[in-house]
Amino acid sequence: MSFDFDQEIDRRGTNCMKWEFVLNGEELIFGDHADRKHGPDRLLPMWVADMDFRCPPAVVDTLTQRAQQGVYGYSYPCDSYFEAVTDWFSRRYEWQIRRDWITLTPGVVPAINMLIQTFVAPGEKVLIQRPVYYPFFDATQLNGAEIVSNSLVFPGDRYEMDFDDLAKKAADPAVKMAILCSPHNPVGRVWTAEELARFGRICLDNDVLVVSDEIHCDLLYKGQRFTPFAKAGENFAENSIICTAASKSFNLAGLKISNIIIPDETRREKFVATGKRHGLFGANAFGLVAVEAAYNYGEEWLAAVMAYVEENYNFMVDYVDKHLPQLKAVRPEGTYLVWVDFRSLGLDPQARKELLMEKAKIYLDEGEMFGPEGEGFERFNIACQRSILEEAMARIKVVVEDLAKEPFKEKAPTRFQPSV
Ligand SMILES: Cc1ncc(COP(=O)(O)O)c(C=O)c1O
Repeated sequence: MSFDFDQEIDRRGTNCMKWEFVLNGEELIFGDHADRKHGPDRLLPMWVADMDFRCPPAVVDTLTQRAQQGVYGYSYPCDSYFEAVTDWFSRRYEWQIRRDWITLTPGVVPAINMLIQTFVAPGEKVLIQRPVYYPFFDATQLNGAEIVSNSLVFPGDRYEMDFDDLAKKAADPAVKMAILCSPHNPVGRVWTAEELARFGRICLDNDVLVVSDEIHCDLLYKGQRFTPFAKAGENFAENSIICTAASKSFNLAGLKISNIIIPDETRREKFVATGKRHGLFGANAFGLVAVEAAYNYGEEWLAAVMAYVEENYNFMVDYVDKHLPQLKAVRPEGTYLVWVDFRSLGLDPQARKELLMEKAKIYLDEGEMFGPEGEGFERFNIACQRSILEEAMARIKVVVEDLAKEPFKEKAPTRFQPSV
């Protein structure tokens, strides 16, 4: 079957966060690009992580049939749902999940919040690996816990874990949980089995519970192999909670459904009890049928979409090499996100935002959102039609070239020198 990923789809008028809203501080506001503005003036949103592609045809058909039935009452997952989920992980990653390990939540981010509420007391600490997906910060702090960063290191080509630092930080008895982002958003690493084994061993030795956010696990570039954390070492499954979803893989994020895998029974009971305190019961009627159809019939589409995304990356990196040598794209191994180094332009976050958002009219996630380690970077979402990416790159070229033409502004001399 062939899929047309080149066709642009007008997503405006669908309550679409990416194309109709902009983030203003903490608040989402209906953006100026929502007013049906098209042509060269349109803002190109490459920020929030969803795809601009239609989902697998089997998902669209199933949802259409479900919608046409016309009754949307309370829904609950049945056997065929659990089979689709467990078969997917067994078929693709040789990971045997028992059905009773799975708890459904309306998203991975809500689940991470609930996990912190369940397993980390106020004042205790959660270890994360910045630069990292920023909702981990809120999930920790809004639930009264403290962030400890075992920051990734970037020796030049790809990001790596700092295991010496991890061992020191995990030894703090106040660190109760480590959130692993695997594959990692935004730096695109697909952690190797060896890296996961070292990470997991240190956490296990220090009695730190691992929450492994594996939402991007199916989005792999050629030659990459994903290892579920639970399979990376002895007793890792019992010491971990694995957050999965079909939402990134098949572009279903708006359906709000995810599967949280908790092999340890006592921990599972505690998590389910937290869910009850939030009144969680059942699941989204459309999410259930969409996930089942995606896992059962979406594999060919997934391979095709990742091949398209990889070609997008190849186009992008080629363009950067030829026309924007000041920038450096960090090669992703997984995810459809590309982390790009803008540091050589020497712009502060505000100046970079003006350049990209105001002048080029491209809406990216600025690196600083992912922690201080992201300073000077931008995150691009390249799960879009090639025409959009081409337009975005061409616009960046124009504004970066204009920047070089601007007269050199000498810095005002410092009038006072500190006396120490
Ligand atoms: C690492 C990671 N976890 C979780 C999410 C969001 O999960 P959900 O929409 O299920 O809350 C994202 C979305 O970008 C993500 O990148």
